[in-house]
Amino acid sequence: MSHVSNRPATGTATLRAGLDGVLAGETRLSTVGITGVGLTYLGYSIEDLAEHATFEEVAYLLLYGQLPTQPQLKAFRDRIVAHRGIPPELCQVLERIPSSAHPMDVLRTATSMLGTLEPEKSPQEALHVSERLLGIMPGVLLYWYRFHQSGQRIDPTIGGDSIAEQFLWLLHGRPPEALHVRAMDVSLILYAEHEWNASTFTARVVASTLSDFYSAITAAIGALRGPLHGGANEAAMELIDSMRDPDYAEARLLEMLAKKEKIMGFGHRVYKSCDPRSDIIQVWARKLCEATDLMLLYDISERIEAVMRREKKMFPNLDFYSASMYRSLGIPTPMFTPIFVLSRVSGWSAHILEQRANNRLIRPLAEYVGPEPRPWQPLESRS
Ligand code: ACO
Repeated sequence: MSHVSNRPATGTATLRAGLDGVLAGETRLSTVGITGVGLTYLGYSIEDLAEHATFEEVAYLLLYGQLPTQPQLKAFRDRIVAHRGIPPELCQVLERIPSSAHPMDVLRTATSMLGTLEPEKSPQEALHVSERLLGIMPGVLLYWYRFHQSGQRIDPTIGGDSIAEQFLWLLHGRPPEALHVRAMDVSLILYAEHEWNASTFTARVVASTLSDFYSAITAAIGALRGPLHGGANEAAMELIDSMRDPDYAEARLLEMLAKKEKIMGFGHRVYKSCDPRSDIIQVWARKLCEATDLMLLYDISERIEAVMRREKKMFPNLDFYSASMYRSLGIPTPMFTPIFVLSRVSGWSAHILEQRANNRLIRPLAEYVGPEPRPWQPLESRS
């Protein structure tokens, strides 16, 4: 009997480790690394969005495909705020997750739990679920954090009218300064969307099986957690924290590079000469470090950047200067990657919608490198 399949004849398909450079599908949501175009979300440059937009406008753009009018933006903001409440069953789960857990695991678990309490009953509910996730995420993270830090059960429904403001408000237990809210807003805008990166690809693979929204987001959070992806902002902070001054940082970095160690917050799979988001966040990092007397931290960061450019021709990605900016906002390091989630939920959601609108199961091939076919060995004859 002959076995018929879609598999290309041996040698005709090209294997690219890590799918490097492989076109895996289409998107209208963002451009990454296209010469002469820069980074755009649905055609709007990241520079314009970071200068003029709020995160909520950007999230609306990603979810609905166009910038909102004033009434649309107000209604969207109101819906997000109305989605802040945490069901009591989820509060109980948050209280039982150990205080030693990583906050990324808290968000992953909470997303999955919410999917059992408020399941997506039909694809028509997808936009509702994405707005619910945008609304509930900051409160979930900080309910868990504040409960385990001080035994307080915070009210997750308060905190101003934006995600940036609410995050800082719930974290510090008081209304944040306007400058800090704007810095946070810009950071959320920069993290919102980035084409077919590892976590977005994960979300799209799950969506392509016609699974539910929560499963796709839960899986994406798991993919983002690693230090080669979203976890790099925390790893970058740990690196900067381990340096006492710029000269020491330079000497340590040369040692690390001599040992071929990776420097977190540098390099990118697609960008080859710069990450356009880094220039924007670096300006904010400097501004806030100056305002909060953290210039030593900033100077160390700049020296690390200079050494990486000189020795490796490598440039900082978004994660590197995000670290010192978050520190200047008084954000604990384990919260850095979760902030990425609060923002990227918008991009992941838009990609799930895009995948569903023109779905085909994502199922690539692997080149087989295992043993030749061999006869079955009964248990008693194995040595
Ligand atoms: N520090 C030192 N050397 C590096 C770094 C780095 N950060 N990144 C790449 N290199 C070197 C590698 O050691 C390798 O050198 P070799 O050819 O001599 O062995 C070469 O550059 C190619 O590296 P790869 O890891 O194969 O490149 P890839 O395209 O797979 O990596 C990645 C992209 C994963 C982002 C990589 O640059 C990296 O690990 N950076 C640090 C982690 C990081 O900052 N991730 C955040 C990404 S952006 C984001 O998620 C917002």
